[in-house]
Amino acid sequence: MNLSEKAALLRAKKGQAPVSALTAYDYATARLLDEAGVDLLLVGDSLGMVVLGFPDTTHVTMDHMIHHTAAVARGSQNALILGDLPIHSYADPEMALTNARRLIAAGAQAVKLEGGVGQADKVRAIVADGIPVVGHLGMLPQRVKEEGGYKKKGKTDDETQAILAGALALQEAGVFAIVLESVLPKASRLLSERLDVPTIGIGCGEGNCDGEIAVITDVIGSYPWFVPPFATPRAKVAEEITQAVKGYLDALK
Ligand code: KIV
Repeated sequence: MNLSEKAALLRAKKGQAPVSALTAYDYATARLLDEAGVDLLLVGDSLGMVVLGFPDTTHVTMDHMIHHTAAVARGSQNALILGDLPIHSYADPEMALTNARRLIAAGAQAVKLEGGVGQADKVRAIVADGIPVVGHLGMLPQRVKEEGGYKKKGKTDDETQAILAGALALQEAGVFAIVLESVLPKASRLLSERLDVPTIGIGCGEGNCDGEIAVITDVIGSYPWFVPPFATPRAKVAEEITQAVKGYLDALK
């Protein structure tokens, strides 16, 4: 199946079945998630925080993304592998296309970038090259410093209409899905209704988008130092690791 066919299958889930998506950053996790049947694995630039120990995603480079995308690609057979274009890697359409091609060469099957109307020409350039693109609207982690923190979006009609304008511009430019981050439930529902492409929500409340994405460390409880308020941990991997290592140390005494 070529890249565009795989993306088209995911797009066609709109109105039929929820899109399931999780982040993955390494071979073993990608393999477990793929074998569990997840539709989409995002090699998110969140790896800057939960894998590399930076305070936010603004420290992530193309070299980081290529390294982790290749590992995830080695672990995954079926899920669509989506690579994040990191900050400063898509300043203009030419740079966006060059770096999208580098992520595809590393094993991604589609790329994601943050922002709305101002990114439409970059999306067009990448899509024209046969590379599927996912948009990302609402809270944009690459702008966390300018924003002064992680803030909810869609609080007013004007803000919701601005997100909608961005989403329609991205859709017109050819994205096959849009991640909505930390958009209030009412605004998320409106955006999901108005768009033809699936919305994939994180921090948007349950059932307001056409699919859900979560950061894997939030789901399995392996990064206890920061858990977003909207996350639902379903395991306590950090505690299991601590117990296992204590058992190992005790056995050595
Ligand atoms: O990098 C990431 O993990 C993301 C998700 C928050 C959607 O972009």
